[in-house]
Formats: sequence, C-alpha cells, structure tokens
Amino acid sequence: MALKFPIFLDAQSTTPVDPRVVDAMLPYFTEKFGNAASRNHPFGWEAEEAVEKARKQVADLIGANDAKELVFTSGGTESINLAIKGVAEMYREKGNHIVTTVIEQRAGLDVCKRLERQGFEVAYVPVQPDGLVDVETVRKAVTDKTILISVMFANNEIGTIQDVAAIGKLAKEKGIIFHTDATQALGKIRVDVEAMGIDLLSCTSHLIYGPKGVGALYVRRKAPRVRIAPLIDGGGHERGMRSGTLPVPLIVGFGRRGAHAPGGAARPPAGRDPVERGRGVPERASGAAAPAQPEHLLRLRRGRVGPHGSQQGDRALLGLGLHVLDARAVVRHRGARRERRAGALLHPVQPAPLQHRGGDRLRRTADTRGREAVARDVAPVRAREGRRRHQVHSMEG
Ligand SMILES: Cc1ncc(COP(=O)(O)O)c(C=O)c1O
Repeated sequence: MALKFPIFLDAQSTTPVDPRVVDAMLPYFTEKFGNAASRNHPFGWEAEEAVEKARKQVADLIGANDAKELVFTSGGTESINLAIKGVAEMYREKGNHIVTTVIEQRAGLDVCKRLERQGFEVAYVPVQPDGLVDVETVRKAVTDKTILISVMFANNEIGTIQDVAAIGKLAKEKGIIFHTDATQALGKIRVDVEAMGIDLLSCTSHLIYGPKGVGALYVRRKAPRVRIAPLIDGGGHERGMRSGTLPVPLIVGFGRRGAHAPGGAARPPAGRDPVERGRGVPERASGAAAPAQPEHLLRLRRGRVGPHGSQQGDRALLGLGLHVLDARAVVRHRGARRERRAGALLHPVQPAPLQHRGGDRLRRTADTRGREAVARDVAPVRAREGRRRHQVHSMEG
C-alpha cells in the first residue's frame, strides 16, 4: 500500500471516518431525511427506526442491558457536561461533594471548576507516578456529602487505563453514583457498564472512525436508577435528558461504526478478539493497568506534541511531575508494529535541549524546527517513491 504524507499520528485527537460508515450515513442526508421525532408519518418512522438501531449498536458496545439507557449528544464534551452537571443539580439536596482526578480531560475539570464556583466542593485525587489512580486514595477522598465519583477510563495524553471496575465497586459500596469518561476507551478496549459498576458513561464517535459531532451518555436505569437534570430544555427528546432534533445521519454513522468496532456486537468469537486479548492497547495485558514508563515517552523533534496543540503542557504528564516544557515535548509511544514502521520515517532523535524561553518565542522555534525536521525525514522517502514511480513508468512505457 502506498504511503500517504504527511503521516497522521494523532489518533487521540480524532480519526477519519471509515468509508463504510460514510456509505451507511449518506441516505439519511437525502432520501431518508425524516425527523426521528415525527411520530405521525413514515418519514419520521424510518428515521426513528434508524436511530433505535444505532442506539442498540452503541448499547451493545458498552454492555448496556437496555438501549434506552443511551442518550445521544453532540460528543464527549457534552456527555461529560450532562453527566456531572446533571447529577450535581439533581442530587444537590443529598450533598455537594464530588470526587474526581487531576488527569481528567478539560471538559471534566472545567465542569468541576464551574461547580466549585456554584458552591460545590471537589476533591481532585492525584495520580501515582505510574499515572494510575489509587483506589484507596479515592476511598479516602469520599465524604458523607459525596454524590458523584468521576474518573476517566483511558487517558488521552498518557494512555493509562484506570481500574474502573475497582472504582465502580467502591462507588457501589458507598452508594455513590459513578461516572467515567470512556471517550478514549470505547471500541478499543473492553468497556462493560454492568460488569464494571458504571452508572454514567460518556463516549464519542469521532475517535473510533465515526463522524464528528455525535456522542452518547449512558445513564443507568436500574440498580440504581440514576436521574440527571438536562442541560437543554425543549421538545423533551431523548426521554427529556437532551432536547433537540436528532442528527440522524451522524447517529447512524456512530452506530454503524460501533457495531463493527472491536468489542462491538459484531465482535469476533472468544479468543480471536484483539480487545479481549489485550491488543487494543498494547501495554495492557487484559486487565492489567498500563503504567506510563519513561521508555514509553518519546521526545520528538517536533518540539512539543500536545493533544489539540495544547500550550500548557499535557495535564497528565504534569500530574506525573514532569517539567512543563518537558510535558510539552513528549508523546506516548504505543510500540505497535504499525507505529514502529511509521517511526522509521519520522524517527525520534535527541533534540537540542529545549530552551526555556518565553511562550511565543519557544512555540515559534519549536514549530519551525518541527517542520524542518519533518521535511528532512520525508524528503528521502519521497525521492525514493519518485524513483520507484519513474522506474514503473519506464517499464510500462
Ligand atoms: C478523554 C477525552 N474526553 C473527552 C473528549 C471530548 O470529546 P469530543 O471531542 O467528542 O467533545 C475527548 C476528545 O478527544 C477526550 O480525549
């Protein structure tokens, strides 16, 4: 297969849409354009049927008992907002305390900061040097006013996978609602809301080769029944939890991708499933936590590699105690064969020591150096490709 340049190595930020997913979505933009809430004619019924099929596909992907437990949203950020703010408002009478971690994605942390301004108290549990949250530390952070424990499943910066089942068990013991941001875990490693004691789960489509702009929040209906206050008032869609006309084509795409993601309904038989065998995330041997060892952290020529171009330094790496400039210059290396091959092209080298200069200057220097370095790496490969193409043409000619 011909290599395409530039090579995309930032699949934690997004992924392209699988062409089969695009095919599944297309009819719902044009001939099947009905509003899923139109209950009185076939256009609406057709759209509703497609939405319910997708709901079941996503429910199967996370091991939910009932597809009605899935609420479609615009993505991970909205799901996290709905989960945390929704619980905070609904259970305010019961308590005003939330336990979360220092390495949550921005959405989780910013929602908690907002709630603090509104009178909530939030305990930000630190991570251990290996990037994992100690369940006993979570236990100690819980008070008799705690209404929610929110701990992310897989980290988007350092790839650590938390012991979600143990935290779910603790939450059950204490009778506290448990939310997890499974945005980076969905479709890659086993996610099972029943087996793991998860009450609320946020996920998104665009990180598993589905379309952007659609995600879901799992809201447990039984044992216990979890209730959340909506963020958006309106037509009462999604059982009143998320009003607004549903983006049927996006939902169809999310469901289609969900059904075929490793771990989905169409998952390979036991023993042949890469997710079950722990290949979804290479450092994780089914069930074992993935430590962020220094050798897994590669410094790239690029100067800084932060998710979404973050200038603050990766929160998770800062949480591990790295200097802010080092945190900007580091990326997690999965060690997968495909990436090692790519690594042969964009191989990491020892960079000139980072100069601790002011923000803008540093950014410009790093970016220019990065572009030059990539150009240097790619040029010989392009030249080789060009020569090969020339030979093929000469042979054909
Ligand atoms: C861990 C994590 N949570 C939440 C989000 C936000 O999801 P979305 O982009 O769908 O809003 C992301 C996005 O990459 C993420 O990595």
